[in-house]
Amino acid sequence: MSIQNDIAFQKCINPECGAEFDCGQSIFNCPDCGGLLDICYNWDKIKVPEKLSDFSSRWASRGNRLDFSGVWRFRELLNFCEDSYKITIGEGQTILQQNCAIAEQLGMKPDCLFLQYEGLNPSGSFKDNGMAAAFSHANMVGAKSSACASTGNTSAAVALYAHSCGVKCTVFIGSGRIAFGKLSQAMDYGAQTIQIQGDFDDCMRQVQAVCKKLGLYLLNSLNPFRLEGQKTIMYRIIEQMGWQLPDWIVVPGGNLGNSSAFGKAFYELKSLGLIEKIPRLAIINATGASTLSDLVNEKKLVWNDGRVNQAIIDEYYADLTARSFSPHTCASAIEISRPVNLKKCLRSIDICDGIVRAVSDEEIVDAKALIGKWGLGCEPASAASIAGLKHLLAEKVIGHDEKVACVLTGHVLKDPDVTVNYHKEKQGAFSNPPIEASNDLDEIIKLIK
Ligand code: F0G
Repeated sequence: MSIQNDIAFQKCINPECGAEFDCGQSIFNCPDCGGLLDICYNWDKIKVPEKLSDFSSRWASRGNRLDFSGVWRFRELLNFCEDSYKITIGEGQTILQQNCAIAEQLGMKPDCLFLQYEGLNPSGSFKDNGMAAAFSHANMVGAKSSACASTGNTSAAVALYAHSCGVKCTVFIGSGRIAFGKLSQAMDYGAQTIQIQGDFDDCMRQVQAVCKKLGLYLLNSLNPFRLEGQKTIMYRIIEQMGWQLPDWIVVPGGNLGNSSAFGKAFYELKSLGLIEKIPRLAIINATGASTLSDLVNEKKLVWNDGRVNQAIIDEYYADLTARSFSPHTCASAIEISRPVNLKKCLRSIDICDGIVRAVSDEEIVDAKALIGKWGLGCEPASAASIAGLKHLLAEKVIGHDEKVACVLTGHVLKDPDVTVNYHKEKQGAFSNPPIEASNDLDEIIKLIK
């Protein structure tokens, strides 16, 4: 194995520690202090394009699999392994849809709303961006067996990538906590699927212990290489806006990998002189799984240059334990109460002047139907972004003439149950239930509007 030590390395984000490790290690958190790890680069040794628009030239050479990949066509910005190790299955061919109809429904100027549709990835969610990067690292370190905990999409993406690069995988899911589309993918793509009687947070705890004991390669967003891949979602938004920046990024928050990756992406672009300003970030929780919103908005938890007040977090989690609290939301993808990337997310909030909101399940399913009717269709967690945007417009935190990119994280077909129930049980403003008719032409014709 040849590790590009002089170019990239891992570093603990805890400023009291700051321990560094080479990229040949699969450790997933700091062995010295337990802190989260970042991938850092010696930028002076990397040939980064002078301006972001220089990446446009990759379009002409998309016959090269790395230039085709929506992750690796930005490879200079996540340059932790040699090209020969890089894995791609064609991820990141996503679109940024300017959506005038939804903008108007929300009272925004028509040209101001953009939907970054990550449902177009091979496994139907944004996870593939991260998996392309993490499986490349797994390939570099020669991993043979992998595992993840999941609310569903991670398991689908892991199963797909593991299968395509010959790595074994076991996925841990909470019993009854996963949408059917996602479960069907994990099984179909050949993952060993273990349903634990518990929620995602229980699965996350177990998978870390199993990976440590058995030396399995961990594919949750604790894995810092995954987050390097997820940075590219932001590059693609900028790319599709003609190398311009939106004023706001709005993203659902669960385990907080995306929000962590987005802040890092913008920080690096700004430091490299590739962008002039950093967009603001809005992270949207569900009210039934609102740890980030509670900690930031009520307990006033902040990044504080990395010296995060751990006592506030400990006290909050002790209270969850004392109440035997288990999160509940119809947006099962973000049904998480102990997000592993909490501190990195606080850093992103600091970098991006970010804010956090929580939205109810009723707001989520209505927003989902709105996106379905006038947009691209998405799963419930993704719709939290539009539901959150609605709040922020009402609060006038986001102006109606600001350019907003909402990340639609997963495909509408991931969770058909929520969609069918919404329409059949007339749960909201956009419910569109099927009409019963007898097998009679005249009756059928009368029904057609
Ligand atoms: N949206 C969807 C569709 C997701 O699947 C997830 C996370 C999120 C949003 C939250 O993203 O963790 O980066 O804040 N799903 C994980 C899983 C946890 O296991 O599939 P985050």
